[in-house]
Amino acid sequence: MRSPLDDTALDTVFREARTHYGFHAQPLDEAILRRLYDLLKWGPTSMNSQPARYVFVVSEEGKSRLLPALSAGNRDKAHQAGAIVIVAVDSRFYEHMPEAVSQFAQRP
Ligand SMILES: Cc1cc2nc3c(=O)[nH]c(=O)nc-3n(C[C@H](O)[C@H](O)[C@H](O)COP(=O)(O)O)c2cc1C
Repeated sequence: MRSPLDDTALDTVFREARTHYGFHAQPLDEAILRRLYDLLKWGPTSMNSQPARYVFVVSEEGKSRLLPALSAGNRDKAHQAGAIVIVAVDSRFYEHMPEAVSQFAQRP
C-alpha cells in the first residue's frame, strides 16, 4: 500500500498553490510543456479516453492572433506567459477509443 502524500506535497499541490498572474520573460522550454502533457493525459476518464484537445500557443504570431479573442483584463498576462493553452473538447473523441484502449494497455 502506498503511503499518503506528506505535508510538503500537500502544501505544494493544495494549501499553498495559488494562481499566477505574472510571468518571467524567458522562453518556455518545449520539454516542460511535453512533461506537463505527459502528466495530464493520464487524468482519470472512462477507459482512459481523452476528450480534451490542447493547443499550446507560444509564438508571438500565434499570441497576436489569439489575444483579441480574450477579455481585456486577461490580455496582458496572457501575452507575458511563456505559453497560452487553448483547451477544447473533441465532441467525436469516441472515434479514437480503440487508440485509447491500446494506450491504456501500455500504461506504466
Ligand atoms: C468563474 C471563474 C472565472 C474566472 N475568470 C478568470 C479570468 O477571466 N481571468 C483570470 O485571470 N482568472 C480568472 N479566474 C480565476 C480566479 O482569478 C482565481 O484564479 C481562482 O479563483 C483561484 O484563486 P487562487 O488560485 O488564488 O486560489 C476565474 C475563476 C472563476 C471561478
